[in-house]
Amino acid sequence: MRSTNVRLKAIFLVTTLALILSGCGKENLSALIPKGYSADSSYYLIVLTTVVMTFVFLAVMTIYTVVLIRFRRKKGQEDYIPKQVEGSKTLETIWTVIPITLVIIMAVPTVMAEFDLADTTGRDDKINIEVTGHQYWWHFNYVDEDIQTSQDLYIPVGETVYLDLITEDVLHSFWVPALAGKIDVNPENVNTMKLDAEEEGIYYGKCAELCGPSHALMDFKVVVVSPEAYDEWVNDMKNFEPEEQELDTVAQEGKDLFEENNCMSCHAIGSSETQIGPNLTGFGDRTTFAGILEPTKENLIEWIQDPESIKPGNKMTDTYPELSDDEADKIAEYLMQLKVSDVTPETVSDE
Ligand code: CUA
Repeated sequence: MRSTNVRLKAIFLVTTLALILSGCGKENLSALIPKGYSADSSYYLIVLTTVVMTFVFLAVMTIYTVVLIRFRRKKGQEDYIPKQVEGSKTLETIWTVIPITLVIIMAVPTVMAEFDLADTTGRDDKINIEVTGHQYWWHFNYVDEDIQTSQDLYIPVGETVYLDLITEDVLHSFWVPALAGKIDVNPENVNTMKLDAEEEGIYYGKCAELCGPSHALMDFKVVVVSPEAYDEWVNDMKNFEPEEQELDTVAQEGKDLFEENNCMSCHAIGSSETQIGPNLTGFGDRTTFAGILEPTKENLIEWIQDPESIKPGNKMTDTYPELSDDEADKIAEYLMQLKVSDVTPETVSDE
C-alpha cells in the first residue's frame, strides 16, 4: 500500500514538472527564449537573479546541514552549553554585508534596465503604433501610415517600433513573452513601450490582466517580416479599396448580408477608425480569428451564429438578428475572401 502511494506521488510530481517545464520552452511564446532587445534584457535579469538566489539557497542549505550534523547533542553531553555568540560583531557584520552586497548586485542592473527600456526618445522617425485593448481583442493604428487593423501586428525585423497603449474598456495587459515584458493597458493614461524582434517569425501575444470571462482567449500575434515584405504589406494596406475587392457570387451575397445586418457599424473594413469591433481589413489573410480559432468555414459559421458559446462575454452576441445556415455560410465566404496582401502570417511561418 505504502509503496503504491509513493509511486503515485512520484508519478504526480514528474507529470507536474514535465507540464510546467514544457510550458516554459514553447518557441515564440517564451520569455526564456528571448528574441528581442527588451526580452534579452529581461532574460539577463532573470538569469542573474536566479544565479544569485541559487547561491543563497545552496549556502543556507549547506550551513543548515553542517550545523545540524556537527552540533547535534551527543551522548554524555546532555548538560553541555555551547559557546554563546549573541552580539558577535563579526557575525552581525557578515550577515548584514553579504545580503546588502547581493541586493546591490541585482538592483543596479535592474534599475539600469528599467530606465533603458522605458526610454522612448528618438521615436520621431520610427514606426509609431497606437494599440487599443478591447474585450477581447486588440486594435492597431499605424499612425504615420493611416493603417487600421486588428489582432495581427506587422513589424519589420530588426527595427524598433514604438507602441502607445490604451484601453477602450477595462484594464488589459499587453504581453509578447518572446519579445518584451508586460505593459499595463489603462484607460485615459497612455503607456508607451518599445518592441523589436531579432528574427522573422510569428510571436504569440497574450493579454496578461484578468479582464473578463474571455480573458484567456484575448490572444494576438506579432508578425515579424523582412523590411521589404513590411513595405509591401504597408503598401497593400494603404492602397486597399474595399469597394474594389474582387468577390465571387457567394461572397458578394455575403457582403450584401454583411451590410444588411449592420455589421459595418462595428466592424470597419479599410482605413476607417471605427473600432467597436475588430477591423476586418485583410481578415482572409489571418491564420486565427476570435483570438483562438482557425479560420475554417465551419468555425466561422459557428462563430457568426453563436459567438457566446465560443467567447463568453464578447460584445457581438445579440447585436444582430439570428442568421440561417445559408446566410452564415455566405458571410463566412465573404470574410474569407477579404484578402489584402501576399504578406501573411502563413508566408512568414513557412520560411
Ligand atoms: Cu484583456 Cu485579459
